[in-house]
Amino acid sequence: MNPPSAVHQLRPASLRAAKETSADIPPYMQEVYYWAYVSPRNVELLDRPIVPRVLLFLNDRRLIRGLLEEISAGQSVLLSSHVYGNLCPYLADRVGPEGTFHVCDVTPIQVAHAQRKLAGRPWAKAWREDAATAGEGHYDVVASFFLMHEIPDGKKRQVLDNLLDRIAPGGKAVLIDYHKPHWAHPVRPILSLVCRLLEPFARSVWDHELSAFASSPNDFTWTKTTLFGGVYQKVVVTRR
Ligand SMILES: C[S@@+](CC[C@H](N)C(=O)[O-])C[C@H]1O[C@@H](n2cnc3c(N)ncnc32)[C@H](O)[C@@H]1O
Repeated sequence: MNPPSAVHQLRPASLRAAKETSADIPPYMQEVYYWAYVSPRNVELLDRPIVPRVLLFLNDRRLIRGLLEEISAGQSVLLSSHVYGNLCPYLADRVGPEGTFHVCDVTPIQVAHAQRKLAGRPWAKAWREDAATAGEGHYDVVASFFLMHEIPDGKKRQVLDNLLDRIAPGGKAVLIDYHKPHWAHPVRPILSLVCRLLEPFARSVWDHELSAFASSPNDFTWTKTTLFGGVYQKVVVTRR
């Protein structure tokens, strides 16, 4: 399952500056996603609810609802990375002060944004850590919201294995991400182009079930639902 190679050759003009300022960020964050998640000017511009709204073809609320409905007040929740817009405060408010909400992100500026959004909620905490190791102990719900398609395939396996390890007894993981659209879906050509130009690691979540990235998929039950003509998927994973 090698990621398509074309986009590995992308070298944003800002790469040199990124390398100078972001020594601990994984190479793919510097080389592929600097403009989207590392550049301070762009992050300031992009971190607002309209961005996921547009990028997700107005399906953001539906997808967020799909995650929130898996979570109850008082539970412990881990989110594998920061997400632009209001997902972090929504999740923190869903578990409420009787619960705990943790979010990790590998990019310092993204952690700063998450911390700002979670201010005033002592049960919620954001820190810098790779999703391949993120978390403290076990959680009732471990969530990934559009992270899997953004990371190289080898990293997908490390991240998914860690997230599955974090599921508390009786708990679950909820993975929300892209999925292969129906062949006649009008947004399919747009997303194909986006994958080719900007998202080199995304095609593999079209071509493989998310369970294919787990080292021990048979230890878990995988329940998938798709939305918006197959463009998106929600996979709920429980331990067998
Ligand atoms: C969740 S994904 C994409 C979400 C969606 N496109 C949005 O609207 O924000 C983007 C985040 O993943 C983070 N990220 C990328 N690789 C990561 C990793 N290995 N561990 C933790 N966070 C990671 C990036 O720093 C970025 O904040």
